[in-house]
Amino acid sequence: MDDNKKNAYTRVIATGSALPAKSVSNDALAARLAEIGVQTSDEWISSRTGIRSRYLAEPGLTVLELASRASRKAFQSAGIDPASIDLIIVATTTADAVFPSTACALQAALGIKGCAAFDVQAVCSGFVYAMSVADGLIRTGGYRRALVVGSEIFSRIVDWTDRTTCVLFGDGAGAIVLEASDAPGILAHRMHADGTFGADTLSLAARIEQGAVVGHPFVRMNGRQVFRLAVDSLTRSAQEVCAMAGLKPSDVDVWVPHQANVRIIEMISRKLEFAEERTVITVDHHGNTSAASVPLALDEAVRSGRIGAGDTVLLQGVGAGMTWGSVLLKW
Ligand code: ACO
Repeated sequence: MDDNKKNAYTRVIATGSALPAKSVSNDALAARLAEIGVQTSDEWISSRTGIRSRYLAEPGLTVLELASRASRKAFQSAGIDPASIDLIIVATTTADAVFPSTACALQAALGIKGCAAFDVQAVCSGFVYAMSVADGLIRTGGYRRALVVGSEIFSRIVDWTDRTTCVLFGDGAGAIVLEASDAPGILAHRMHADGTFGADTLSLAARIEQGAVVGHPFVRMNGRQVFRLAVDSLTRSAQEVCAMAGLKPSDVDVWVPHQANVRIIEMISRKLEFAEERTVITVDHHGNTSAASVPLALDEAVRSGRIGAGDTVLLQGVGAGMTWGSVLLKW
């Protein structure tokens, strides 16, 4: 490889995903929560969020295992040798360990040696951030083939006695293989953050200190504020990346937004006039899987044939920080 030659584009050549074995319906979850004195219902959850079920990790399942399964499926689809990967980026908020990174553990689990490997922490925007970083690095000419993964087990960091958050999340992983290409490819991407919306808006504000957990080791959220910020930031972000590529939102064939809440997705789609048939929704059966939500939805859309060659696809993430961003690409 000539390291000085810049690559024109980056293309997604394969996707993969992995879910825990068990899907838990709202009714089953409500019954389970009632046993510990927490009152909720399928009616409340589905009418406010569109979520009907989510996959919850069984004891012993790790973020690494989910990442590894999703990656192997992507390799299988691409028909490539894992040894050809020269960059691994994992987006996760729920890593199995503080360090080494999930990306390094994944490199070892996949039997890949020597390539760059690191994690990105941007919570629910993590995958879109990781994909943007991978595109930037490949286009420098220094890397040719990247594995980008979002993997989360959020069910272990929610407070199951807090009904305002625990019903929203699910577990899973999604992966893509990105490759240098002369043909488009990723057309535009842009990441954003506003750190002034910090711990009060959405956080898990705890750390390990001298062998003890210090702080509040569960997700805390101001739901209404997050709702408003998500609608506003993703609407503007879609307009921004489309303009960067010389396109309009009406040119987008398939929209894969972060899967937090159907009502958020519907509100944005009304503003941008995205027709229902152009919108990928998986939050109804995945719940909100944070950094895994976009690659899980993308993999489902690819495997079901909803995304085909030549389609213009918009991927969008938004999450704690606040962070948000979009990737616009030609499939
Ligand atoms: N079951 C039954 N009742 C509930 C539940 C529950 N699971 N949770 C809250 N309630 C009750 C509240 O106690 C409140 O009762 P009260 O009126 O007697 O006080 C009532 O329902 C209304 O509560 P609100 O918080 O006002 O409900 P809201 O309509 O705002 O919906 C929701 C809450 C669904 C969280 C909404 O604000 C939302 O979707 N926000 C976006 C947040 C999000 O998607 N976060 C995901 C993580 S961040 C990300 O991915 C970007």
